[in-house]
Amino acid sequence: MNTRARGLFIVFEGVDGSGKSTQVARMVRWLGAGGHTVVSTREPHDCEAGRRIREMARSGERVSAEQELAWFQEQRRLHVHDVIEPALAAGQIVVCDRYYFSSAAYQGARGLDPERILRESEAEFPTPDLVLLLDLAPEAGLDRVASRGAPAEPVFEDQERLQAVAKIYRSFAFPFFVRVDASGQEEAVAASLQQIVSERLGLLR
Ligand code: TYD
Repeated sequence: MNTRARGLFIVFEGVDGSGKSTQVARMVRWLGAGGHTVVSTREPHDCEAGRRIREMARSGERVSAEQELAWFQEQRRLHVHDVIEPALAAGQIVVCDRYYFSSAAYQGARGLDPERILRESEAEFPTPDLVLLLDLAPEAGLDRVASRGAPAEPVFEDQERLQAVAKIYRSFAFPFFVRVDASGQEEAVAASLQQIVSERLGLLR
């Protein structure tokens, strides 16, 4: 599906602790200050499937990779329908924290075929205009998660698993998929991200 000639659809991806939430918030503020109408959203979406996922993450109780994928795709269906599509149709900029690339990377790291997940997702969900991968070594990400004292999500935050996640993320090659080094200072990373988004906004005019 193509979203061009509508709003702009920007997705942030990265391993846990890569700085996504901070950079999403900064990007939303920066775009807003530039006079754009921005919708900031994230997955898992707040719905029944999203709640099941959060519950699973908290309890540490594992379900099959296929079941996990089914839940993520289910919450995504509602998220796209209720939040993303209406905002894009209204010409707004959507900034989304995680999307189907997370399913390909995380459920792929549990043994499912990332290519299959991408193919099925592309057939069903709108293609982003830009995906910003905050690229960071998983051990550095986990250190950041630990140092901010966030509650652990053992289901998703296992170092070996995150190495596999990072490897799958780095294998993605789409024209709209940009890898950004996230190991630097927050300000510097934000500046790189703004530079990339400026170029895309310029193309829209
Ligand atoms: P969340 O608390 O949102 O993590 P973060 O703040 O780091 O983004 O929890 C989302 C977790 O769910 C995260 O570890 C990645 C995982 N996930 C998947 O495994 N598949 C998916 O499709 C999505 C969207 C997230």
